[in-house]
Amino acid sequence: MNEFKGQRVLVTGASSGIGAGLAEEFARRGAVVGICARREARLDEVLTRCREHSPESRRWVCDLADPEEVDRLASAALVELGGVDILVNNAGIPKRRHVTRLDTSTVEAVMNINFFSPVRLTLALLPQMLERDSGRIINVSSVAATLSSPGESAYDASKAAVTAFSESMAVDLWETGVKVLVVYPGLVDTDLFSLPDNDPVLAAIEPVPVSELVDGVFAALDRGVIQVYVPEYFADLASGKAADVERFLSGTAKYVASQHAGDR
Ligand SMILES: NC(=O)c1ccc[n+]([C@@H]2O[C@H](COP(=O)([O-])OP(=O)(O)OC[C@H]3O[C@@H](n4cnc5c(N)ncnc54)[C@H](OP(=O)(O)O)[C@@H]3O)[C@@H](O)[C@H]2O)c1
Repeated sequence: MNEFKGQRVLVTGASSGIGAGLAEEFARRGAVVGICARREARLDEVLTRCREHSPESRRWVCDLADPEEVDRLASAALVELGGVDILVNNAGIPKRRHVTRLDTSTVEAVMNINFFSPVRLTLALLPQMLERDSGRIINVSSVAATLSSPGESAYDASKAAVTAFSESMAVDLWETGVKVLVVYPGLVDTDLFSLPDNDPVLAAIEPVPVSELVDGVFAALDRGVIQVYVPEYFADLASGKAADVERFLSGTAKYVASQHAGDR
């Protein structure tokens, strides 16, 4: 269970949900974990659990919406951890909103946290991975990137951007020792669905526990694959959509209309 012993892992958005789950599992498997988010008290709770297994683990309170804070986080991680072997770009916000009620500043805010901040952090930490010719970049995308979930156009676009960036980066780095994993959570039981200032979730899908997502990520790391869907059946949904986009989108629109039938 100590296969990550001595590895230095930076996890963004680790004050709750998937980020907290991944950070704690890396610590349990022997890694020194660095975690960050805005909510200090929640971060401290996660850090306490990480330190039970990995006493050198640490945390930084930071707002990834601010590019200067992203740069400061990268520098602090390099100095205080002595380097970053595995970067987990996990922090994200949904801002579920029907496109008729969407404004540009909301789209920019979503792109900023879900896309520009992980890209900035990646570009800051990639050189030291390349110097060692070793490293892993785990980017948490979403099934929304491929399944065009309704009422989430800003979120879907930000996650599609994460996916496109990650896949292109993986090709650029193919011959190096730096490997990329793109994670596609389906519906995972976290705070993401009870955040204020978001439309209700439309999908009537039973969420899976964070532990199932964490197990899926570690199994994917073991296999050295480039992408992982959790639950796995979302991969079939994504290929089904790719095979017939028209059918998939019209089916989604019909489903949304049926959900709103009672509103009229
Ligand atoms: N849950 C799902 O079904 C699902 C599905 C697909 C994809 N995802 C993705 O999984 C990732 C984790 O989400 P989750 O489901 O675990 O939800 P969550 O519990 O709400 O976690 C989101 C994390 O991001 C952090 N964060 C948000 N804005 C931030 C900011 N400006 N600066 C720093 N940290 C920030 C939050 O911490 P603070 O609030 O403390 O800053 C929190 O730790 C996200 O990228 C999400 O899009 C989740």
